[in-house]
Amino acid sequence: MTMTQTTAEAPSFTLTDNRNGRSWELPVLHGTVGPDVIDVRALYRETGCFTYDPGFTSTGSCQSGLTYIDGEQGILRHRGYPIEELAENVEFTDVCYLLLYGELPDAGQKQAFEHDIAHHTMLHEQFYNFFRGFRRDSHPMAVMCAAVGALSAFYHDGTDIHSAEHREVAALRLIAKMPTIAAVAYKYSLGQPFVYPRNELGYAANFLRMMYANPCEDYEVNPVLARALDRVLILHADHEQNASTSTVRLAGSSGANPFACIAAGIASLWGPAHGGANEAVLRMLSEIGGRDRIPEFIERAKDDDDPFRLMGFGHRVYKNYDPRAKILQASCHEVLAELGIENEPLLDLAMELERIALEDDYFVERKLFPNVDFYSGIIYRALGIPTSMFTAMFAIGRTVGWIAQWQEMIADPAMKIGRPRQLYVGETERHMDPAGQAD
Ligand code: CMC
Repeated sequence: MTMTQTTAEAPSFTLTDNRNGRSWELPVLHGTVGPDVIDVRALYRETGCFTYDPGFTSTGSCQSGLTYIDGEQGILRHRGYPIEELAENVEFTDVCYLLLYGELPDAGQKQAFEHDIAHHTMLHEQFYNFFRGFRRDSHPMAVMCAAVGALSAFYHDGTDIHSAEHREVAALRLIAKMPTIAAVAYKYSLGQPFVYPRNELGYAANFLRMMYANPCEDYEVNPVLARALDRVLILHADHEQNASTSTVRLAGSSGANPFACIAAGIASLWGPAHGGANEAVLRMLSEIGGRDRIPEFIERAKDDDDPFRLMGFGHRVYKNYDPRAKILQASCHEVLAELGIENEPLLDLAMELERIALEDDYFVERKLFPNVDFYSGIIYRALGIPTSMFTAMFAIGRTVGWIAQWQEMIADPAMKIGRPRQLYVGETERHMDPAGQAD
């Protein structure tokens, strides 16, 4: 089959089957900005063929008005606002509001939204029993997957996906409870008592206090560090149809409840090619250890026979510097300065690794740049967050993106269950030989 673009007023692609000379017109759809898409919805009905695109490198799975990425230019916008402006000027809760409701909140809306979030941060007291069932050394992401899925067992009043009110309260609960669940997972790993949320604190400050306070000693939150964490959360809030978001959408397309869908998203995020990369970056930097060993690791990353990859480098969409990594690199310096850390060997190493990689033909030709996970771990580490919690931090920030995307999908009257097809390459029909199989 061949495909050519027509230049008619209603643009379309002409698909020609070279086997029999038959042709079909495939409509082209335009977004408000970004590449056009070829509408193949009628393809199977009309041609008897499916498209084949493992890894979805050329496939748009939905339409969305939340997030726009131009990977060639290194552009990321939420509801039209550049990520740089959001990170500089507003708080994470404002970005949550923006993603959920389409506009930045005015003063009254902000106050009401933050009040709602604060009043959903507590967990049901019975819920704490779940945590006590885990081994002390459980990975926090294992605990997060299970605990978030278990929320659906507690909120029967919020799982009717056809009710806009239920969907909204589920969204608020998830955004509000994620930091509490993550902090409890951490406290449990230490064997320390769980710390309850405080409604007068902001989102990031509340999380830091739940992590570091204990009944014998309260924790005074440094506003500069709370702001730095808040900015990291903004940078993770949404990223269009990545693996975990697509997982949430696919799970939700069957009508599953929102808590189950977000648990599925957390599971997908955990992988090292996705959100698990932030943990892997810190482990990699520690393994490299010093500048003199960078060339050895660069060579390994380039070796086809070695599965090692430079973690925190490369992206399916960005073929330019990830704008989030740029902001995070600057933020690293601010956090370290605030903490009076003049020399952080890991930041030094990361910057040298980046410099060497960006001069290397292998990385230049493949357009491999640092991504969001490359510098976030250095900030987390400076804030005292253990490496095993890094991907849970990503999950806290991304929850709003997942739930806003899920909301957008459910509210879309054109929603259908997600059901990809396949190219079958197994055995053709065959039959058992009862005599032979009896041997
Ligand atoms: N180190 C060394 N080589 C790499 C890397 C890397 N980090 N990333 C890609 N490549 C090479 C890859 O081997 C391939 O080379 P060739 O064309 O010779 O076969 C080429 O670059 C294209 O890579 P790909 O795997 O086909 O690209 P992809 O779009 O399928 O994968 C990726 C994107 C992010 C999974 C990949 O770049 C990667 O594994 N990076 C390291 C893990 C990481 O940092 N993940 C975080 C992603 S951003 C945040 C998030 O999504 O959570």
